[in-house]
Amino acid sequence: MATIHDVAKIAGVSTATVSRVINLPHKVRPETRERVERAMKVCRYQYNALARGFVTKRTNTIGLIMPTISNPVFAESTRGIQDVAGQSDFHVILGNSYYDGDKEAKLIEVLRERQVDGLIITSTNMKGDILRRLLRDDFPFVLLYSTVRKGPMSAVGVDNFLGGYMATEHLAGLGHTRIAMLAGSFNISDRSFHRWHGYKKCLKDYGIPYDPSLLKQTGFGLGSVKECIQALLSKDRPPTAVFCSNDLVALGAMEGAREKGFRVPEDLSVVGFDGMPLSSYVYPRLTTVYQPAYDMGRRAADILLAQTREKPDKPVHDMLDVQLVVRDSTAPLVSP
Ligand code: RIB
Repeated sequence: MATIHDVAKIAGVSTATVSRVINLPHKVRPETRERVERAMKVCRYQYNALARGFVTKRTNTIGLIMPTISNPVFAESTRGIQDVAGQSDFHVILGNSYYDGDKEAKLIEVLRERQVDGLIITSTNMKGDILRRLLRDDFPFVLLYSTVRKGPMSAVGVDNFLGGYMATEHLAGLGHTRIAMLAGSFNISDRSFHRWHGYKKCLKDYGIPYDPSLLKQTGFGLGSVKECIQALLSKDRPPTAVFCSNDLVALGAMEGAREKGFRVPEDLSVVGFDGMPLSSYVYPRLTTVYQPAYDMGRRAADILLAQTREKPDKPVHDMLDVQLVVRDSTAPLVSP
C-alpha cells in the first residue's frame, strides 16, 4: 500500500506538503496541489479520514440516522442532505434504526467513534435521553422530522397536527362522518401522535363524535395494514373514509379495501400523508398531505453544517409548510 512518502517522491515535494494538501488544501498553491493529487492517483494513495481528523479535528463526514430506507419519504430527505453536504465536500454515512431506540443509540455511538462532525437524526427515542447526552457533550446535531419547536435542540419538521387536521377536514367537507384513522404506533413516533390529535380536533370542530374503535395503530410500513383496514371494514357500521398516517399505509389500505370488495373512492375515501412522488402514480391517484421531504433534508443539512463550523448562539427550529393535495382517492359521501 502506498504511503505519504511514495506520494511525496512521485510529486517531487516534501511529505509536509502532501500532508498540507490533504488537511489544508486551500493553503497550497493550485499547481502544487494538482501535482500531489496526480501523484496520489498514480500510486493509488488512500488517505485515512480518521487520521486527518486528528490534525484538523474534522472528518468532513456527517452521520445520518433514519428509521428506515424502505419509506421513500426518507430517501427524498437523504437526497436533500447529500446534495447540500456534497456542495461543501462533506460525505454522509447513513444508518437505519428500524424504529428501535436501542439501535438508534448504538448507531449514534458508532458514528461518534468514527468521528463524524455532526449528526442528523430522525429519532425514535421518545424519552430523549440519548439526545440529551449529545447536548451535554456539545455535539452538533439536528433533529429531522421533528415535532420539537422550542428548547435547546435544533430541529426541522412540519406541523403534523395541522396536517392531520387538514386531511380530516377534507374528508369531513366531503360529508363523511365515519372517518377512521390508521396511525403509526405512538410509541415510536410522536409525529403520528400529533397527526392523531389534529384528526381528533377536526372531528370535534365539525361536531363528529370521536369513536375510539375507528383508530387502529399499525406500523409505518405495509406490515399489518391490510388486516387493520379489513377489521375496520368488517364492522357493522364500517367507516366511509380513512386518514392514514403516511402514504405507504394508505397504499396498503387501498389494497386491503379492494380485496374486501370495497371500491376506492366510491365506498371508501383514503387520504395519506407525505406526498411521496409515487403517490400520484398509483390507481386511484392518492389524495395526501404533502410535506417537503427533500427541502427538509436540505434545511437540516444547512443547519448542521453551519453548526459544525461554529457553535450557534441559539438553536434553530424550522417548520416547513404542509399542503393538502387532492387527487382521486377521495370523493363525496354517497348516502345509502
Ligand atoms: O416515520 C413515519 C412517517 O413519519 C413518515 O412516513 C413520515 O411521514 C414521517 O414524518
